[in-house]
Amino acid sequence: MSTLIKGGTIVTASETYQADVLIEGEQVVTIGHGLAGDTTLDASGKYVIPGGIDVHTHLDMPFGGTVSSDDFFTGHQGAAFGGTTMHIDFAIQPKGATLRETLDIWQAKAAGKAAVDYGFHVAITDLPDNIMDEIKHCPDYGVTSLKLFMAYKGVLQVDDGTLFRAMQQAAEHGLLIMVHAENGDVIDILVKEALAAGNVTPKYHALTRPPELEAEATERAIRLAEVAGSPLYVVHVTNAGAMQAIQKARVRGRSGQIFGETCTQYFFFTKDDLARPGFEGAKWVCSPPYREKSDQAALWGAVADNSLQVISTDHCPFWFEGGKDGRTAGKELGRDSFAAIPNGCPGIEDRMMVLYTQGVRSGKISINRWVELCCTNPAKLFGVYPQKGTVAPGADADIVIWDPNQSYTISAAKQHQRTDYNLYEGMEVTGVPSVVLSRGRVLVQDGQWKGQQGAGKFVKRKRFGV
Ligand code: URP
Ligand code: ZN
Ligand code: ZN
Repeated sequence: MSTLIKGGTIVTASETYQADVLIEGEQVVTIGHGLAGDTTLDASGKYVIPGGIDVHTHLDMPFGGTVSSDDFFTGHQGAAFGGTTMHIDFAIQPKGATLRETLDIWQAKAAGKAAVDYGFHVAITDLPDNIMDEIKHCPDYGVTSLKLFMAYKGVLQVDDGTLFRAMQQAAEHGLLIMVHAENGDVIDILVKEALAAGNVTPKYHALTRPPELEAEATERAIRLAEVAGSPLYVVHVTNAGAMQAIQKARVRGRSGQIFGETCTQYFFFTKDDLARPGFEGAKWVCSPPYREKSDQAALWGAVADNSLQVISTDHCPFWFEGGKDGRTAGKELGRDSFAAIPNGCPGIEDRMMVLYTQGVRSGKISINRWVELCCTNPAKLFGVYPQKGTVAPGADADIVIWDPNQSYTISAAKQHQRTDYNLYEGMEVTGVPSVVLSRGRVLVQDGQWKGQQGAGKFVKRKRFGV
């Protein structure tokens, strides 16, 4: 069974050109002219891009006294409708569990539900000697990145010694270390002080997690990685100070080892969104928090000049009004205290459209850079390139036919990710996926779901740098 994508303009990280794409089975076999297939998808007037890869998501994740509201089907539907055909989720190690047991828990969450391809990072919360020893087996499990949290004291946070030991193992076995870089010990003090002073509304979430504490932790993680000799990927960079720590490390010769990601939402919101009237600001509570307008400008500059290499979503949705009608508990848990608001925001569905409109169309990044940031660099850094992240013979046919002229107004009422709000509510985007294919199968066509639960596969990833 073959499919021909005809008449489109192929866009990769480095090229833009007109050609047809022939898919046989699950892969692209030929790119050229005068080709024929069993079925034809008309892409005239449209772009043909690799499917988006979102390397930072939290589906079905127990966190903040509840569980994130998207599972591996609803989250995958949201992803597909937004042009994302692969994601890498965090398998969070329950204390005392082995890494194999941790991955089995997350594989069970995805089994029978996945509609797009997926991978896992292991998030280490507990590192006794037997787990240190198990790290070397992660590549056999198909997992080549380890995440450590420098914040969320008493829950996910590890100390510097644990982080450093994980880095040493990663350096030896070809794994990429990822960090959530905030100084959790100091945040813990600031949160306790705020609560003691009666400062309980959502805006204090941002005020108790100042940007200096992210910049400091970022610099610390970089220096530790340099000593350990491990590659390091700093997730969800929000502000100029943290970004500059990465930029400086890369300039002093570490560009092959030190990498940074930001997330779509950090270009658009500030700490003032957490001060919206009533409890509304809880919708914007995530960590690290939204910063200042000047940080947004710094982030746009950083993704344009390659100081940061990836834009992901940190998709970690919670209901705004949860805990009833079959919904898991959500943001309402923190009505009396910002410290009890589950941290996280939705966005897996919005990323490609929002960044195309506000990044490419507004001239902040080129269309090739958009593909590089959202598809190709994620694939390269996380060991799935050139299987994914590009449109080329031999690659999986994870392809999006992108209509650059169609407009759509983002709203919670129309979205497919499972939440009752959307951060970008009312934003008009121009540039949307018109057909989305995963390994040659159509998942979404003209706004209609054609995908299948259980058809998404776990993707085993190569070691870092291979
Ligand atoms: O607030 C956030 N970001 N929630 C998800 C967990 C994390 O820190 O990435
Ligand atoms: Zn984080
Ligand atoms: Zn996250």
